[in-house]
Amino acid sequence: MIRHKKLGYVVLNVTNLDNSVDFYENIVGLQVVELKNTIAFLRCSSDHHNLILEQAGEAGLKRVAYELEKEDQFQGVFDYLTEKGLNPIELSAEETQSLAQGRTLRFKDPHMGVTYEYYVDMKQMDSPFVPKKAKITRFLHVVYETNKYEEMLDFFTNTLNFRVSDTSSDNKESSWAWLRAFPSPYHHDMAITKGAENKLNHLAYQAERVDDIGIQVNKLKNANVPILFGPGRHRPSSSVFLYFADPDRITLEYSQGMEEFPEEGARQPRELEPTPETIDEWGGTPEPDFGKFGKLITD
Ligand SMILES: [Fe+2]
Repeated sequence: MIRHKKLGYVVLNVTNLDNSVDFYENIVGLQVVELKNTIAFLRCSSDHHNLILEQAGEAGLKRVAYELEKEDQFQGVFDYLTEKGLNPIELSAEETQSLAQGRTLRFKDPHMGVTYEYYVDMKQMDSPFVPKKAKITRFLHVVYETNKYEEMLDFFTNTLNFRVSDTSSDNKESSWAWLRAFPSPYHHDMAITKGAENKLNHLAYQAERVDDIGIQVNKLKNANVPILFGPGRHRPSSSVFLYFADPDRITLEYSQGMEEFPEEGARQPRELEPTPETIDEWGGTPEPDFGKFGKLITD
């Protein structure tokens, strides 16, 4: 059984590394740890990185990485994924060194072709992460739109040992599933929504207080950053949200107040009404660009 410590980081391809580094540091609120020619490592915890930005011709999500709970699980997880036919590969010592990680494996999901990583033992920085430009406290979740909704739900829950926190479906076009990377306490480390395409819907960072979301509304406006949805309140996780666009128009979220689950005795998943109020109890609606530009880099 895979036991996750947490959602560790993602890799984004960006079309202008300098612009994106500036944006993620000075607007979103992460801290730059290492900046090489075509790659930047940023953090929002004591980890060496919670976001990697890579210069590329086309923007998009390149990889999603989860940290395993314990180092001694690594070989068992590698063997399990091999048994499941996912053909994991283990990175060389040289590669893991350049990533400041311990043993690391990669595989693709069989339905959308996204690359995932399981790793152990990321380098911890000497100084704690201190948010400066925006009060963010952790990297929180990844959300996909997918035309393989049932398959991806099955894959995450039955193969990767994610647990369903809530679902919402009208049995036609609209379906949502909010999933936690067991035994992660957060209502969702991953969510999927049924759609016409396979793409990244958004990435979310946890804001420290509701006030910090309000402060960011004004900061984003002053910096001419497009606000795509919110502020509002999601019914499933009862979190307050604010969505905005990064320089490549990828949708990002600040989220505050997400429900947390105990490992034992967690409440049962709910089937929520497929109404607009489930997505925003405050009655807002997303802008047309919300979740629109998150290409998945699958080659
Ligand atoms: Fe979200």
